[in-house]
Amino acid sequence: MAERPIVLYGDPVLREKAIKVEEFNQELKDLVSDMEGALKKAQGLGLAAPQVGVAKRVFILDLSAIDLSEQMRVFVNPEIVETSGEIELEEGCLSFPGIYQSIIRSENVLVRASDLDGNQFEMKVTGMTARAVLHEYDHLEGILFIDLLSPLTRTMLKGRLKKLVEAE
Ligand code: NI
Repeated sequence: MAERPIVLYGDPVLREKAIKVEEFNQELKDLVSDMEGALKKAQGLGLAAPQVGVAKRVFILDLSAIDLSEQMRVFVNPEIVETSGEIELEEGCLSFPGIYQSIIRSENVLVRASDLDGNQFEMKVTGMTARAVLHEYDHLEGILFIDLLSPLTRTMLKGRLKKLVEAE
């Protein structure tokens, strides 16, 4: 396993639209294994490939953080099939250490993706899991959670965001 540090806000890779995975090969498995290492180390809930500097359409969620009977799940080439409801939840991001903000997003999500072997699956998620799916999916589009904040909140965060960019 290679150590892949999590990139911070300010790194241009976080603004790239990630590219579809075409081959379910060893390179993909290695990438996911490295991402799992990085996520465990950071003790986070989710991580998208661009956050380790790889603009590919892959994210992982450590669902054991929400439900002990659950485990690490891999989503390759995910699609948001359906959403319903609205809920305001506090959200953070490993590329924005220390910043947590309340954001309104859909409450229920149907996500379709492939696993590491290229088998497609669908998953109905709600609550924090739905939140994590939407957040990580956005990363693949180059969208960051601060984009969803009100202009006023973003202005208030300006100083802290600038510090992140300088640290990167
Ligand atoms: Ni994030």
